[in-house]
Amino acid sequence: MPSFPETRMRRPRQFDWSRRLVQESVLTPNDLIWTIIISDGSKPRDPVQSLPGVDRVSLSEVVEDAKRARDLGIPAIALFPHVNPSLKDAVGSEALNPDGLVPNAIKAIKQAVPEIGVIVDVALDPFTDHGHDGVLVGDEIINDISVDALTDGAIVLANAGADIVAPSDMMDGRIGAIRKKLDRHGHHNVMIMSYAAKYASGFYGPYRDAIGTSSALRGDKRTYQMNSANTDVAIREVALDIEEGADMIMVKPGLPYLDIIHRLKRTYQMPTFAFQVSGECAMIMAAAQNGWVDEKRVIMESLTSLKRAGCDGVLTYFAPKAAEWLS
Ligand code: PBG
Repeated sequence: MPSFPETRMRRPRQFDWSRRLVQESVLTPNDLIWTIIISDGSKPRDPVQSLPGVDRVSLSEVVEDAKRARDLGIPAIALFPHVNPSLKDAVGSEALNPDGLVPNAIKAIKQAVPEIGVIVDVALDPFTDHGHDGVLVGDEIINDISVDALTDGAIVLANAGADIVAPSDMMDGRIGAIRKKLDRHGHHNVMIMSYAAKYASGFYGPYRDAIGTSSALRGDKRTYQMNSANTDVAIREVALDIEEGADMIMVKPGLPYLDIIHRLKRTYQMPTFAFQVSGECAMIMAAAQNGWVDEKRVIMESLTSLKRAGCDGVLTYFAPKAAEWLS
């Protein structure tokens, strides 16, 4: 390879057209999954203070959002529930209610907008009074009892019409248990997107505000979510989830974990997604609102970076904004 001055790296950067010509990663609306917080509260749209630009939405509004997603070319939406605290208990029983907020939202969306993919979290934290993703006995989240509860919850969601169930709990063995039970109930076409590499992260703060678990959360989630200092364990977690039947894998959070995304995509060539979580979006919005960064530029740069790292798509609260900018 010749070097300078024959080689001039700036040559292809001279013009807009030549920059476009040599661009590698391209973001399109097809790469976006819109994360939406639904609420059983009385307000149609209730802004989340710590997540500027994001509302908790009612059943009828989530149907409107689903139509908007479809019109913008966003392939799928992912739902997260905020339920009235009176429905929460120690074991998250509300997760098994076939007439609960999430099953009703799935049915309403599937009826009105059948062409959009509906992804739902399989998790107990929106429904437990202690805010954990599993069943808490004393100080311990009991793995196998939690897996049973999550598995039953997944069936409720599949029965309601969910296209993809996404276990976000990090219990051991839950992907296999969910896959088996889905199949036994005739849901062999329901996909599983595994929160396979989910880290114990400070970036979930605004989400926990949004679903009302932040003040309730007893302790932290470090006995099941991964240590942010580790990479090898992500490789093993994902290997197990693939073996157990995951169709797609996810890394969470997104931007602080680009190395993990890159390594997992290289290793497994699986459909790989990143969750640009609430705290990541909140940081960008806070700086943008102060005029410290350019909102559009930084959002598009962050999403493109996730693609460059190896993602096939990104779960993000910015999906409708980004899709609008792309159209
Ligand atoms: C838990 C769950 C979390 C998120 C999605 N599902 C947070 C947690 O583990 O406490 C975070 C989403 C976000 O921060 O946007 N089941």
